[in-house]
Amino acid sequence: MLKGVILTGGHGTRLYPLTKVTSKHLLPVGNEPMVFHSVKQLTTAGITDILIVTNPEHVGDFASALGGGKDFGCEFTYRVQEEAKGIAHALALAEGFAGGDRIVVLLGDNIFETSIQHAVNDFQAQQRGARVLLKEVSDPERYGVATLNGNHIVAIEEKPEHPKSNYAVVGAYFYDASVFDIIRTVEPSARGEYEITAVNNTYIDRGELEYSLVQGKWVDAGTFDSLTEAHQILLNSSDDQ
Ligand code: DAU
Repeated sequence: MLKGVILTGGHGTRLYPLTKVTSKHLLPVGNEPMVFHSVKQLTTAGITDILIVTNPEHVGDFASALGGGKDFGCEFTYRVQEEAKGIAHALALAEGFAGGDRIVVLLGDNIFETSIQHAVNDFQAQQRGARVLLKEVSDPERYGVATLNGNHIVAIEEKPEHPKSNYAVVGAYFYDASVFDIIRTVEPSARGEYEITAVNNTYIDRGELEYSLVQGKWVDAGTFDSLTEAHQILLNSSDDQ
């Protein structure tokens, strides 16, 4: 069985003062709070057992906005990340929830124009290891960047000054149960965070990291400009329906 994890911790400092009273992931995008988008990505792909990882200040807001899951046709579990020490640090809290099952991890500020179902299917067909989603962008230095050799990812660099490609590693990750052992081996980076890129590079070293490409537009809604763009993408895609 595939389970879902949505990471909504961190401080959202780049969006202050919008984030003065609540989490970035509860700000309006399209016609709904941002996190609804990640929830619906998972439920439309058939994933209905979902863990929300958030910070101590906002866990009550998430419980109010999402409840137990009845309105979404899913079941939510909540865990609190006491300190924002990085994406891999937040993901470590999902070990008991995963209980040995494979997981799809979404960063709650990543907005996709279309469903990620195709990548879920690709992962389900995969025997072992992990999968990431890539998107060609004009500003790769803002993201994890994949170096490709033919059909293989040979390395990922986190926010490189001189990116080796235009392929951003977006915030949707697919992992087998060994991800938690890998996280235990990760050391904090220069910026003091347990980086998801370090986890993904370990899968590359094992020859177990595959990728799919994002179909349609994608945005990391962590800044004022990208939040506006995310808003437009979701309003336009709901017009099309
Ligand atoms: O958006 C894609 C990018 O996300 C990737 O290309 C990068 O490789 C990855 O490191 C990440 O970069 P960001 O700088 O955008 O990460 P940020 O610190 O903004 O965190 C993204 C989400 O992860 C945030 O919406 C909530 C969650 N998070 C983050 C941290 C640092 C947590 O749940 N806990 C945390 O401690």
